[in-house]
Amino acid sequence: MQLEYRQRREQLMSKIGNGTAIFRSAPMAVMHNDVEYNYRQDSDFFYLTGFNEPEAVAVLAPHHQEHRFVLFVQPKEREKEVWTGYRCGVEAAKELYGADEAHPITELDEKLPQYLEKADRIYYHLGRDRHFNDKVLNHYQNLLRTYPRRGTGPTAIEDTSTILHSMRLIKSEAELEMMRQAAAIAIEAHNQAMAIAKPGRYEYEIQAEIERIFRLRGGMGPAYPSIVASGVNACVLHYIENNRQMQENDLLLIDAGCAYGYYNSDITRTFPVGGKFTPEQKALYEIVLAAQKQAIAQVQPGNTFSSVHDAAVRVLTEGLVELGILKGEVDKLIEEEKYKPYYMHRTSHWLGLDVHDVGVYQHGEGKPQILQPGQVLTVEPGIYIVPDTKLAEDQPETDPRWIGIGIRIEDDVLVTPTGHEVLTDGVPKAVEDVERIK
Ligand code: GLY
Ligand code: MN
Ligand code: MN
Repeated sequence: MQLEYRQRREQLMSKIGNGTAIFRSAPMAVMHNDVEYNYRQDSDFFYLTGFNEPEAVAVLAPHHQEHRFVLFVQPKEREKEVWTGYRCGVEAAKELYGADEAHPITELDEKLPQYLEKADRIYYHLGRDRHFNDKVLNHYQNLLRTYPRRGTGPTAIEDTSTILHSMRLIKSEAELEMMRQAAAIAIEAHNQAMAIAKPGRYEYEIQAEIERIFRLRGGMGPAYPSIVASGVNACVLHYIENNRQMQENDLLLIDAGCAYGYYNSDITRTFPVGGKFTPEQKALYEIVLAAQKQAIAQVQPGNTFSSVHDAAVRVLTEGLVELGILKGEVDKLIEEEKYKPYYMHRTSHWLGLDVHDVGVYQHGEGKPQILQPGQVLTVEPGIYIVPDTKLAEDQPETDPRWIGIGIRIEDDVLVTPTGHEVLTDGVPKAVEDVERIK
């Protein structure tokens, strides 16, 4: 893997010319009082270094004679390490992570200017850490002030995201291997969830089983708070209380993905708790499934990113018209977004080191993002007949028999040179299969 991190750094450096790029590690996140969450490195930082400790700064200075890659890290401190665990330290940062030079983080202010004063610009992403943003801006200001004396120095700050995130958008073989493993673990968890869900059980029992498997198989844990939503709870898109007792005629919507070695999966399945759909549930389920299949079929190199969403919206709208839930002409309903009370989110997002991964969805108006091999996106249409929804005036009142049904089906799809590969198709979704499995 060290080789791949190096290749990524080289690729980035080849694009920043005489600039210097600065990356900040993620902060520790507080759970409460003095208790912290497990540390999780910032994805950009990790992508370029593989370094997973807090209080670190990475500098890429392609124009520097000797030190093109510099790490500032927490120094080794035996007493602190007894409490909070192993630190790599300054010396090993060079050996283990391939830095040309490493310094203690305490020397950042003193040492950073030497990597900036010959750069023509600073590449830096203004992040959530205001204090660190100020630090970078202060250095920039000082260098501007002293520019006349040197005749060199940065005269602009450019955001790094455009370059770096277009790199992260295309997954390498090594990354795909991690994503396949993240998918495989979540597939097992979803299958197990389907096997054990039954009326009388609580949503949290299913959550516990899913997350047990995540850890049992070596995952870091959930990729995001697991959603185990039965009955009307499925109409809340980010329902995470997971504390309801499931009933005979409920659908259960499970949106749960696994984080494995920093990479993520993101799967949703919806199935009848009691083993059999009601006619209404089945009618809506078949629409969502058809929409998902049509949308997945759009995942081909050369197609636009938005064609996936458009395909889903068309099938969903047609289906809702057929059932009499929407009224009117399909094209017009789509144009006027009349489907939105029942389908209020987008169909896809990029997936990778972040669950909602980086990368643009369009390059500006009229300049769509074109699908390319190596991209991974989710395809996750749904229908949610939310109680008490305000409908457009020209639309019929929703027949009560539909109300409270929420359905989503989500898979992770890799764009391949010839089409696509569904990374998560090991979880059944055909009507017979989600009914039969009980
Ligand atoms: N579970 C988050 C999402 O589907 O986007
Ligand atoms: Mn998703
Ligand atoms: Mn999801």
